[in-house]
Parts: sequence; C-alpha cells; structure tokens
Amino acid sequence: MERIINADIMPEDDKIEQGLRPSYLTEYIGQEKAKKNLKVFIEAAKKRKESLDHVLLYGPPGLGKTTLAAIVANEMGVNLKITSGPAIEKPGELAAILNSLSPNDVLFIDEIHRLNKQVEEVLYPAMEDFAIDIVIGKGAGARSIRLELPRFTLIGATTRAGMLTAPLRDRFGVVNRLEFYNVTELMQIIVRSAGVLGVSIDDEGALEIAKRSRGTPRLANRFLKRVRDFAEVEHSGKIDFDVAKEALDRLDVDSLGLDNTDRNILETMIYKFNGGPVGLDTLAAAIGEDSGTIEDVYEPYLIKNGFINRTPRGRIVTEHCYKHFGLENLIARED
Ligand SMILES: Nc1ncnc2c1ncn2[C@@H]1O[C@H](COP(=O)(O)OP(=O)(O)OP(=O)(O)O)[C@@H](O)[C@H]1O
Ligand SMILES: [Mg+2]
Repeated sequence: MERIINADIMPEDDKIEQGLRPSYLTEYIGQEKAKKNLKVFIEAAKKRKESLDHVLLYGPPGLGKTTLAAIVANEMGVNLKITSGPAIEKPGELAAILNSLSPNDVLFIDEIHRLNKQVEEVLYPAMEDFAIDIVIGKGAGARSIRLELPRFTLIGATTRAGMLTAPLRDRFGVVNRLEFYNVTELMQIIVRSAGVLGVSIDDEGALEIAKRSRGTPRLANRFLKRVRDFAEVEHSGKIDFDVAKEALDRLDVDSLGLDNTDRNILETMIYKFNGGPVGLDTLAAAIGEDSGTIEDVYEPYLIKNGFINRTPRGRIVTEHCYKHFGLENLIARED
C-alpha cells in the first residue's frame, strides 16, 4: 500500500511542487549552512564572471535538493539542464548533453550515484578539465580526440552519498548535506505555500501540519494540499488547528508524523516482545513485513526520532516511545 508519509515524490506532488518551488535563496527556508556557503560561492563566481564550482547535494528525499539546484542556476543567471543518473545510458548521451551547454550553465544530475561506470568516466575529465575524449573509428584504426567544453557547473544530487565512488566525490568543490527541517522552518514553508495556493491558514493550523511532516517540506506541502481539500469540502475553507488535526488524523498520520505501519511496528515490539530487544527477522515475521523493507523504509525515521534504539542484541523501544503511546506504566519493564 502507498504510504502518505513516503517522502519520495508521488504523481500528485508533481503539479503542486512546480508552483511551490522558491526561485531565490532568500525564499528558500532553512538549511542555513548550505545557503550561506552557496551565497558566498555564487557571489564570488559572478564577480569573476566564472562558472561556479561543482556542487554535490545529498540528503533524504524531499528536502529540497532539486529546488536548490534550480535556485543556484537562477541566482547565477544561467540555464539549468536537468537529467538523472539512470536516464543517461551511454557515454555518447552524456557527451551530447555536455556539448550542448553554454558557458557557465548548470547541469543538474539527480540520483548521480546511479550513473553507470562508462558514463561516469566521461564525467571525470569533463568536470576537471572541461573536455571529453571521443574515440573515433574502430579496432586498430581507432583514435581518440579531445573535445573542449564550455566551463559549466555540475550539481549532483543523491540520497545515498555513501554509494558515490571516491573519484566522483573528490571532483566536487562544494559538498552540502541537507538536514531535516525543524518545526518552525516547516511552519514557514507551510505558510508560504498556503499563500501561493491562496488558502487561508492560521499559526495553530500551520503548526499542526508542521509537527506531522517528518522534517520534510515535500510532506508538509502534500499534507497542506490534503488538509485544504478537507477544509474546503467539510469546513469554511480556512485551515485552523481543528481542521488540520481532524484531516491528518483521518489520514492516519499521528501527532508526531507516525502512520499505521510505524505504530504497528512499535506496538508489536511493546506488546509481543516486552519492548525488546527483538531481532529484525523476528520482528519482520511478527508483523508480516520484509526485513529489508523495515530496515530501509520504516526504521530510519523511528530511530532518528528516538522511538527505537539499536543494540547488539536487537531493537528496543525507548522511553520516549512508551510516553508517546501513553504507556508510561510499562517503562519499568524495560529493565
Ligand atoms: N527550503 C525550502 N523552502 C521552501 N520549500 C521547499 C524547501 N525545500 C523544499 N521545498 C519544497 O519541497 C518540495 C520538494 O523539494 P525537492 O523536490 O527539491 O526535494 P528533493 O530533495 O529534490 O527530493 P528528491 O530526493 O525526491 O529528488 C519542493 O516542491 C519545494 O516546494
Ligand atoms: Mg529531487
């Protein structure tokens, strides 16, 4: 089943995300460290009338990597060309893209960790020397000629920085990790998006959506859109605390952004395994899920937000988790 709290992009996001994407650094909320860095590098590059150094952006889905890449191109006043690792199948395809760039343009490669090896090798001299080597002819008569490229900026994005090869990673001059957003920042994003969408919302309404958005702007915008539908059909159209709470409760996203599957995992650990420790495979069997899916999809948010701890003997639920479920009386059983 599709989870509404899945931060990967869904078809329904596509339409709204276009309109909600900020175009300038000043409109881009949060990520202060990345923003400050980029601001300096952009200004310096513009002053020297040079291309910006290559930039690597990494972090979980929906935190604003694509948005930031578009902002950089916009602030530099250059064209943005967008492609992705899996979309480029052959070295020649990348060569054609590179050759089509104008001086100082930004080439954005999403999911850059998924470039295949042959294509990636074309990228090395392109990034370093702004040139590519093209092989002409076949067999013994084959020779390679060097094709000069305009200076350009590569912005690579990935959700899995660990999967990047060292030679590729080393060729980025600027590396920025995007962080989860805090509730105040998410509130600002929600209020801004509501303004763009023309829906009226008060602070308590925005706060309630922010608290449930798992630190992720994509989810904040997705929830805002769902809550707006609800506000328009069943209420006066205005989003306040009650409307936001009721709508998100009905979508089964609780006050800390947990959905039914998250709760099922935690409750199973509490009631069937006395709060753990329980091994991943045992837990997976108990809730009828694949253990890999639990580990990659469900668990990271639960661990990051202190609901689960990993110990050498297995997973355990935390005090914070008992409290969230109103089960303080069970905490003693942990020891
Ligand atoms: N800092 C921000 N300020 C305002 N809105 C933001 C910000 N970051 C992201 N958003 C909003 O969140 C949505 C998702 O952002 P974006 O598509 O850039 O994420 P992403 O990191 O590229 O995700 P993916 O890993 O799936 O490619 C955008 O439509 C944008 O409106
Ligand atoms: Mg993206």
